[in-house]
Amino acid sequence: MVDLFDPLLLGGAVPLKKRIVMAPMTRTRTSEGDVPNELMATYYGQRASAGPIVTEVINAAPSSRGYALMPGIYTEAQRQGWRLVTDEVHRHGGTIFAQIFHVGRMAHPSLMPNGEAPWGVTEERAEHSDVFAPGPDGKLSYIRAGTPRRLRTDEISALVGTFSRAFANARQAGFDGVEIHAGNGYLFDQFLNSALNTRADRYGGGRVEDRTRFLIEVVEAAVREWGPGRVGVRMSPFGQFNSMPADPLVEETLLYVSDQLGRREVAYLHLVYQLMPTGNMETGEFKEHYVSHAVLAQVRATFPGAIIWCGGFTDREGAQAALDTGLVDLIAFGRPYIANPDLAERLKHDWPLAEADRSTYYTRREEVGYTDFPAYPAPRNAAA
Ligand SMILES: Cc1cc2nc3c(=O)[nH]c(=O)nc-3n(C[C@H](O)[C@H](O)[C@H](O)COP(=O)(O)O)c2cc1C
Repeated sequence: MVDLFDPLLLGGAVPLKKRIVMAPMTRTRTSEGDVPNELMATYYGQRASAGPIVTEVINAAPSSRGYALMPGIYTEAQRQGWRLVTDEVHRHGGTIFAQIFHVGRMAHPSLMPNGEAPWGVTEERAEHSDVFAPGPDGKLSYIRAGTPRRLRTDEISALVGTFSRAFANARQAGFDGVEIHAGNGYLFDQFLNSALNTRADRYGGGRVEDRTRFLIEVVEAAVREWGPGRVGVRMSPFGQFNSMPADPLVEETLLYVSDQLGRREVAYLHLVYQLMPTGNMETGEFKEHYVSHAVLAQVRATFPGAIIWCGGFTDREGAQAALDTGLVDLIAFGRPYIANPDLAERLKHDWPLAEADRSTYYTRREEVGYTDFPAYPAPRNAAA
């Protein structure tokens, strides 16, 4: 039986001290030019006992700027900014993967280069979803996603090259690996969803080989840059965040992708479940979208790499119970990491967890609710 504090050699390449992952979380603390800074280095350094950290999502290109203040990895200043972060995490003995994506239709012309339309798989807009961008008064606020323009086939092939450069930059910035964000209704997920991807070209939705082609080509680019064992992929099958339609072929897609990733020696598959508001956010009514044990068992049989499970874990018992199913290898914690930089130690010693304040999740460029959570004052006789 695997214990939450057992080590793992991820992908045969990255030694991990425990089975606890810090989940990717956008925190909007970048400096001018979407550049990572000392404050972010401090934040990630404080959380270095996770094994590994997955960063907040990073834009592969300027056309991916769907939300203000999210970091990029396509300029020299951004690359240097990330170097501050990776150096600090490594100084504390940690491991850090860069989560990289393209936002696709979840954008607005006010943030796009030359005010152009967001890039989409089709012209279908994310009708019920907001992005964080300058409103008509120029002030940053939540506004409805814009109407996308359908990418041409040659533009999609060109995007694979854009990702290759982002992966090379991540390597130069000192990361230990990269995670491709193919979930949560962003560009890769838009391609994978057979109900949204109604294209008729080689990246089109009808055949599973076609709708997964863009993701697989980008995975191949990542493995070319990083070698096997240092590339992960995050997916949120069944999720409907960002106005994603229910996909009748979701299981076929998931199993096909799992198989293809295994063939390319991808280190891990990171599966996330989502709690979606069903009506009024204020009433607290949520519907769960998750991968069932039965589907997970099929993924397990198909994909030889590690599986990370994320969503709703709040204590050691719950995480251990998930590992005990034998279906997953690592447990990712998101929100608990916000107020508990030493989450792993707290879980290990059964120390109480601090609560974060939702209103500071995305505070801009400030340490409040970000780097000001202390580690638990360990009793003198506690074992390391
Ligand atoms: C503030 C915040 C920001 C997030 N940003 C990202 C992100 O950049 N990339 C991503 O894949 N998921 C993101 N997520 C989702 C988390 O990684 C995770 O899947 C979700 O919070 C559920 O896990 P939890 O119950 O442990 O918090 C974010 C979640 C939160 C709370």
